[in-house]
Amino acid sequence: MAMAYASRRVLLLFLYVLVSISSTTFGFVERSWDEAIDLANQTVSLMTMSEKIGMVRGVGQFSSRCIGNITPPSRSFSVSGLNVTIPPLCLNDGPAGVRLGGTGVTGFPPAINAASTFSRSLMNARGVAIGEEFRGKGIHVHLGPAVDLMRNPKAGRGWEGFGPDPYLSGEGTYQTITGIQSTGVSACVKHYSTYNQEHWRYGLNANSDDRTFREMYWWPFMKSVEANVSSAMCAYNQLNGTSSCHNAGLIGDEGPLRQEGFKGFMVSDWGATHDSAEDNANAGLDMEQPGDFILIGGGVFSGLQSAVNSGEVSQARLDEMVVRILTPWFRLGQDSGFPDINFDAQNPDGSGDLNENVNVRTDAHTALVRQIGSASAVLLKNNRTSGGGGLPLTKDLKTIAVVGYDAQQLDLNCAGGLNECNTGTMVIGWGSGSNNVAFTVPPIQAIQDFASSFATISTDITSNDLSGGPAVAKGKDLALVFANAMSGELGFYQIVDGNEGDRNDLNLWFKGGSLIEDVAAVCNNTVVVVHSVGPVPMSSWNNHPNITAIIYAGAPGEQTGPSLVDVLWGAVNPSGRLPFSIDDDEASYGTEIVYGLDPFPVIDYTEGVFLDYRYMESKGITPVYEFGFGLSYTEFTYSSLQSSVSSTSATFSFTLTNSGSTDGTEIPQLYLGFPTSAGEPSKVLRGFDDIFLAAGASQTVSMTISQKEMSIWDVVQQEWVVPSGTFDVYIGASIKDIRLTSSFTR
Ligand SMILES: *[C@@H]1O[C@H](CO)[C@@H](O)[C@H](O)[C@H]1NC(C)=O
Ligand SMILES: *[C@@H]1O[C@H](CO)[C@@H](O)[C@H](O)[C@H]1NC(C)=O
Ligand SMILES: *[C@@H]1O[C@H](CO)[C@@H](O)[C@H](O)[C@H]1NC(C)=O
Ligand SMILES: *[C@@H]1O[C@H](CO)[C@@H](O)[C@H](O)[C@H]1NC(C)=O
Ligand SMILES: *[C@@H]1O[C@H](CO)[C@@H](O)[C@H](O)[C@H]1NC(C)=O
Ligand SMILES: *[C@@H]1O[C@H](CO)[C@@H](O)[C@H](O)[C@H]1NC(C)=O
Ligand SMILES: *[C@@H]1O[C@H](CO)[C@@H](O)[C@H](O)[C@H]1NC(C)=O
Repeated sequence: MAMAYASRRVLLLFLYVLVSISSTTFGFVERSWDEAIDLANQTVSLMTMSEKIGMVRGVGQFSSRCIGNITPPSRSFSVSGLNVTIPPLCLNDGPAGVRLGGTGVTGFPPAINAASTFSRSLMNARGVAIGEEFRGKGIHVHLGPAVDLMRNPKAGRGWEGFGPDPYLSGEGTYQTITGIQSTGVSACVKHYSTYNQEHWRYGLNANSDDRTFREMYWWPFMKSVEANVSSAMCAYNQLNGTSSCHNAGLIGDEGPLRQEGFKGFMVSDWGATHDSAEDNANAGLDMEQPGDFILIGGGVFSGLQSAVNSGEVSQARLDEMVVRILTPWFRLGQDSGFPDINFDAQNPDGSGDLNENVNVRTDAHTALVRQIGSASAVLLKNNRTSGGGGLPLTKDLKTIAVVGYDAQQLDLNCAGGLNECNTGTMVIGWGSGSNNVAFTVPPIQAIQDFASSFATISTDITSNDLSGGPAVAKGKDLALVFANAMSGELGFYQIVDGNEGDRNDLNLWFKGGSLIEDVAAVCNNTVVVVHSVGPVPMSSWNNHPNITAIIYAGAPGEQTGPSLVDVLWGAVNPSGRLPFSIDDDEASYGTEIVYGLDPFPVIDYTEGVFLDYRYMESKGITPVYEFGFGLSYTEFTYSSLQSSVSSTSATFSFTLTNSGSTDGTEIPQLYLGFPTSAGEPSKVLRGFDDIFLAAGASQTVSMTISQKEMSIWDVVQQEWVVPSGTFDVYIGASIKDIRLTSSFTR
């Protein structure tokens, strides 16, 4: 016994070392698409019918190592001198880190906070780090990124994606995929398409006209093809009256993804096959997942073999399905040296097989999560007063109150891997897009670690008690008041405090707004921290004279506390920007969640391309805080705009200067105003950058608008067409803070 135990320890240690080495030096050879297709083609030509069927039929999710596997051939093939041994391909959640992968994984911030950084390099670094952890766990296909636009701010899974703007979402999609796939792990872009609310998702019909679809919901998927994405996932809902996984106009050869050059495989969302083997296979579905849950859909490929036998699905189509599944596996070199699956999603506590619970966390990943946390914190208000108010905080503040349950540790054991509760600080929403929260460092812990040596810290954080919180805050030099709002996935998951995935309203949970107001009434230096999955109402308290600062920290992932302390006390100068507009009134967003209909509702996307700021600008609505907004501890000036316009692109260069006295990062943004006749919103985001400048320093910044980015989708020509007329170019620090303008003509 003792021997066995010791050797197990040695083996685990050995595995850990192996993983640590492979995660820095992956050592895989990336092949071209053509080489990979050729190898896949040769391999498939050696397979029997039942081997092919095993490749395209899901296994799991309640009986498999990963949240989805396939059944590989039980033999090896000799192909072009290679020994091709196909593993039970592992597909696993989720977008923000390994879900159900044991405790040795990192809880990354979700995409909405990556969007909030407006930093391509951080978006990419996050993708690389996530890819490293998936690779370390032996996961071939990362089920992400989720790139669904936040069509309505209450959409339950809005935080899994990059917000309501297609351009920002497209850049986030591209950077995330190139980051993940640089580690040899396949990305699976999802959910294709128009999956924008949780209620009735298994069958609602989203009617989107062609132009709206192309310019909005399709745009991130278009960028995923540019990034060489390995796979895509068709959604639960219908688009235009046909379920996504049965919609040939969407997922078939004539659909936009294949037309754009997508060469990977199309997998169903788990249970999103509502039709029959021939319907789905002939429409363009290459793999069905999972194998063992049949909810409102699922399990249709149990009839695939007989559909092939009867000729309803051709042999060539079946071959094509398998080729498409094997192509990315060969392209990313997963046929050689890829780690074995070493976790068990059925036993995420590590209680199963010998080789489970490999630790893929690294100090570098922890540091990156902390960095993204602080880089995504948006400073919405900062009233620096002579009385010592405002940020960054100083060590002269000797009495500090910390108020609100959002400051305390969350329930780390809540619904194993689904995070279906809102019991403490909000670091990520709930559902399949959640991740391991075991390493969360809550705000209270980080504040105590940092400030206990120079200040007395009093707390009331076990609830949002409207008497206890203010009582603690009264008379203190500083009150830090925390409030949150959360949402998640519906599915068969839980309803959290009456919210069935989508939020019931925009409000902060558990009277968070009242708590903020009551604390501000008794403490003249109240700093508000909001953790939320999307916009929350703020106008009843944001101008309160005692509220000296407001930080919108979003859903920052496991290093939430340290990343906040970095911003509060000035180790990091905030540069996060809002990836959506914040307004009190849901009507300002121009869309609705459809809650109460039965049977499945039809949702017409009549708002067209006018989401969020695009809608608000067109209606003359001034939000409380606008898209792209965020303050800094320093100031930046913009000057000397120059343009260089060619037949295929337009480049704008300007000088950016840190004119304040603190080093910091600015997020210059470029908005394009199309010729009026084009029928576009008055301004659409078409460029951004993150530029670090030491105090007093200047730099030239250039942004290029490509031909496609100055085009609209022409529904008659079925092409991107540049409208003729005058284009206005706006460069500034938010959509409403324009510093430089230019124009060009087409
Ligand atoms: C392999 O490629 C050839 C030539 O394109 C094609 O005819 C054949 O059907 C392919 N075989 C498989 C198994 O994909
Ligand atoms: C191919 O690899 C598999 C798995 O490593 C091994 O079992 C098999 O013997 C190999 N076949 C040849 C011909 O080398
Ligand atoms: C949806 O149907 C409308 C009306 O038939 C059509 O114009 C449009 O192109 C379709 N949209 C998509 C995304 O296929
Ligand atoms: C995508 O693949 C093509 C063809 O192999 C290659 O030229 C291109 O650089 C790749 N792009 C990215 C972003 O990896
Ligand atoms: C709050 O009030 C106290 C007492 O009047 C004063 O000393 C302090 O400077 C005020 N703080 C701020 C931030 O204005
Ligand atoms: C601000 O806080 C002080 C206590 O420091 C309180 O007396 C005052 O009424 C508050 N102001 C408002 C507008 O609530
Ligand atoms: C900023 O603080 C000063 C001093 O407490 C106060 O008079 C003023 O109203 C505050 N401004 C805002 C916008 O809260």
